[in-house]
Amino acid sequence: EKGGFEHFMLKEIHEQPKAVRDTMSQRIAKDGKRIVMNELKWNADFLNNFNKVYIVACGTAYHAGLVGKFYIEKLARIPVEVDVASEFRYRDPIVDENTLLIVVSQSGETSDTLAALKESKRRGAQTLALTNVVGSSIAREADQVLYTWAGPEIAVASTKAYTTQLILFFMLALYMAEIKGTLPDDEIAHFVSMLQQVPAQISETLSDVEPIKTFAKQYGFNEDVFYIGRSLDYDVALEGALKLKEISYIHAEAYAAGELKHGTLALIVEGVPVIALATQKSVYEKTLSNIKEVKARDAVVIGIAAAGDEELEKYVDHVIHVPETDELLIPILTVVPLQLLAYYAAITRGCDVDKPRNLAKSVTVE
Ligand code: F6R
Repeated sequence: EKGGFEHFMLKEIHEQPKAVRDTMSQRIAKDGKRIVMNELKWNADFLNNFNKVYIVACGTAYHAGLVGKFYIEKLARIPVEVDVASEFRYRDPIVDENTLLIVVSQSGETSDTLAALKESKRRGAQTLALTNVVGSSIAREADQVLYTWAGPEIAVASTKAYTTQLILFFMLALYMAEIKGTLPDDEIAHFVSMLQQVPAQISETLSDVEPIKTFAKQYGFNEDVFYIGRSLDYDVALEGALKLKEISYIHAEAYAAGELKHGTLALIVEGVPVIALATQKSVYEKTLSNIKEVKARDAVVIGIAAAGDEELEKYVDHVIHVPETDELLIPILTVVPLQLLAYYAAITRGCDVDKPRNLAKSVTVE
């Protein structure tokens, strides 16, 4: 049942090329230049109705929502707020008939997310669910549904659900951009062609695990690990830190690199591991200067960079490269070494990877 892998988590990490391919399938036009969403059939009148998009979810799905916000704002130019469901539902949120409420849930059964969905419907919002489970409570409750088609996710730690949610958000943002006319056709076609390369690029990332295993063995003995990045790299840092915490029980913290000097830098001393993501061109130099700050305190820094980046290795201890793609799509690649790092760190510490202590796969209590 684990397909030759030692744990479901490792199997599911390795299923990601197929999972993201399945997410895309049927959603790319035959000419390969546009996105089609037969489930939605939106038009400009429908979209222009919304002055705000709200994305609401928990845990890893919330982290996917942060990336979703970036995509929708950047490509479709609609303001997006992201919130964790257990906060959103109790804050008297500003949601009405001009709000598009997107909930994200692998299981489709998370009770806070379901409650947020119901409350938003009551307030008149249009609702869309991104979920993996056909016929789940959230799928049934939402006005419209986009399935991730990732296949069953058994391990408690979410992996392929996250990458497929990112793919789906990217496609949704392109679809919205096309309807709203916020992107020229040739740019949309370019993004679609980059998207189609992602499955093979994930496979490439998965083919080079030995260095990650080595780092994980070293890290397995640490008490704290810090993850830093800016922009989309920060969103991925949050997800990487969560993975490490939940399965290896190592304390991990993700920080927006520019926020370090507002507090966390006090914790950076000799030998503390820092995972530094530096893939976003618009903030590259700024990130590099933050990396130099932690190096100056003798942190052990592992950089995550795009292929072709020869700069970062001058300033850090090791670099893990992922294939080069558009910087919007790179989170789908950079998260993979972070998933593997968490997995092998947990193995090093003898943890029960598929069933971490105190956690359940589907959180149906509030
Ligand atoms: C972390 C993890 C959880 C879930 C969260 C939401 O690896 O799996 O943080 O992402 O409990 O679950 P769903 O997506 O089923 O609503």
